[in-house]
Amino acid sequence: MKKTVLTLLAISLSAVSAQADDLKAAIEAGKAKYGVCGACHGITGNGQPAPGINMAPSFQESELLKADAEVTALILFKGIKKDDPAAYMGQMMMPLGATMPDKDLADLITYIRAEFGGVEELTTEEQVKEYREKHKETAQPDRAALTALAEELAKAEEG
Ligand code: HEC
Repeated sequence: MKKTVLTLLAISLSAVSAQADDLKAAIEAGKAKYGVCGACHGITGNGQPAPGINMAPSFQESELLKADAEVTALILFKGIKKDDPAAYMGQMMMPLGATMPDKDLADLITYIRAEFGGVEELTTEEQVKEYREKHKETAQPDRAALTALAEELAKAEEG
């Protein structure tokens, strides 16, 4: 009996450490894919501030990034419909993840949420595949639609 408990404990501890390894590997891989994003969002995720205006939102202040990973995935599949053409020096968030392989996108999402959003949570290739299928027909969201999705997913999580 005691032995069974110890064995179970050993198995669950090794599962936990395997998960931590997966998270670390995904963060490393995602970082390597971040360069293109850094052009607008800044290598430190600060949104590349110029006097009085940012080129893109700061990730540190982003509520959307801290929300369920599905929200970030949708942003990358579809981009963001611009409310104000002059905002962010006229830059726009394009659907850069639309043609990215699921695994690369999963790593990139894991990286930016962990590094800039403080959410250390692995997003898997399977999740991205599922989100892509779910949002196949979703129209390009504006910020209000993204905030609504974030709230809906948070509510679903609470049960
Ligand atoms: C050409 C500049 C540009 C590039 C390159 C770019 N973005 Fe963006 N991104 C923006 C702008 C501008 C917004 C804000 C859009 C809006 O609100 O209209 C944005 C918004 C976002 C948001 C939502 C953040 C928030 O709180 O508003 C996320 C997440 C994001 N981008 C991720 C990425 C990732 C990941 C990449 C790299 C694959 C990337 N972006 C590349 C310009 C860019």
